[in-house]
Amino acid sequence: MNKIMVVDDDQNVLKVIKMRLEANHYQVATAFQAAKAVKIAQDRMFDLALVDLKLRGENGIELMENLHQINPEMPIIILTSYGTIETAVEAMKKGAYSYVTKPFNYKELLQQIKNGLESSSLSKVTDQPCNMVKESQGFENIVGASEKMKKMLEQVVQAAKTDSNVHIYGESGTGKELIARCLHETSPRKENPFVAINCAAIPETLLESELFGYEKGAFTGAKQSKKGIFAQAHTGTLFLDEISEMPLTMQVKLLRVLEETVFYPLGGEKTIQVDVRIVVASNKDLKKEVENGTFREDLFYRVHVINIKLPPLRERKEDIPLLAGHFLQKYTKKMNKTIKDFSPSALQKMMLHHWPGNVRELENTVEYAVVMAVQDVINEDLILSSEEEVNEGLKCLKSAKEDFEKDYLVQLIGLTKGNVSHAAKLAGKYRADLYELLKKYDLKPIDYRKK
Ligand SMILES: Nc1ncnc2c1ncn2[C@@H]1O[C@H](COP(=O)(O)OP(=O)(O)OP(=O)(O)O)[C@@H](O)[C@H]1O
Ligand SMILES: [Mg+2]
Repeated sequence: MNKIMVVDDDQNVLKVIKMRLEANHYQVATAFQAAKAVKIAQDRMFDLALVDLKLRGENGIELMENLHQINPEMPIIILTSYGTIETAVEAMKKGAYSYVTKPFNYKELLQQIKNGLESSSLSKVTDQPCNMVKESQGFENIVGASEKMKKMLEQVVQAAKTDSNVHIYGESGTGKELIARCLHETSPRKENPFVAINCAAIPETLLESELFGYEKGAFTGAKQSKKGIFAQAHTGTLFLDEISEMPLTMQVKLLRVLEETVFYPLGGEKTIQVDVRIVVASNKDLKKEVENGTFREDLFYRVHVINIKLPPLRERKEDIPLLAGHFLQKYTKKMNKTIKDFSPSALQKMMLHHWPGNVRELENTVEYAVVMAVQDVINEDLILSSEEEVNEGLKCLKSAKEDFEKDYLVQLIGLTKGNVSHAAKLAGKYRADLYELLKKYDLKPIDYRKK
């Protein structure tokens, strides 16, 4: 049952709304003062709130902002009288979901509530857009509950609806290929082929024939014609991994296909027309490659239409326990072992590590631990080789302090949901000093406020 909070300074209005909503199977809590509303929102989670704009002597917009600090996801519908529609519009600019004017048309109010609840459950569904994919296709699950991952997955869901080219950018092992597959699987092209090619793994001389195919006799050894990857991916998605490694001469040819959607196979005289959605991935900053002259600017703009950045694991440490648990399950099942969990110190060790190899390194670490484990709990001695730990231990003091400082700030600003005044108070710092520190680590409070 969905839980709704109603805030209005008129007790009679409260009573009537409560009755109406309960009759429609909502669970309702009421408050007639801002302070009370904040208190109950702190105690319980609500799926939606109705907030009167003019509370006696109090400001509904301010209350809305306070409620959003507690629960940034909760849609808030503003209740307003006819004369104050302008303020209601202002409330929407500040994050209200919608507004309803008094006296109420209850049908409209109920519809708005329904829409509001749907909009927020949609963003919840996107937390795991590929769960369904996994079940039907046997794909790897995408695990992650951090804000950064949620935002990224939302982008994937949005991008999947379109046919625009996508550039996935992220350090090695952050899950670029996984995301590219997920993008395809959630797109309308999902029934059609997904074809992946790693541009770095194929020698320059072969890349062209791989991409475009060839006709019989196109070169010595071409005994039969061969369909190229572009043609194979027709009506589907073509994933060009490590695109930054593509030689400049090939980049020109690729650009032409992207612009004209037709090409000639090697040795062929007839053009082939294809309809492919292009997804490229790189672990280098393509913009920098453009500046260096190793990547064509025109191609960059062609592929960089939608840009999805995968955050490194060290910037979303809250995902580590989830991912570790996911891989533990995967490998115990695969190796037919019964291992229940990690010991607290093993988990702590994983939380402290910096994971330069990102999720892949974590996956390998867990796999190794599962292979080696003889008990039903994985202890810290099985996590990460002692050599690496020594290296970590030898980090210079300055950089160790900075690591600590950054981790601390991330926690602080996350805990206070981006409220710098509150954070400064907790940390015992002046607001301005805290701002300086945040700037030093490129942390933006706004990223920790509501989405
Ligand atoms: N969010 C995630 N949830 C579950 N598994 C993940 C996640 N991210 C990555 N993985 C797993 O980690 C491994 C590495 O992912 P993937 O190959 O997609 O990374 P990549 O960014 O393409 O790496 P590289 O740059 O080295 O090619 C894969 O086994 C993948 O399934
Ligand atoms: Mg990859």
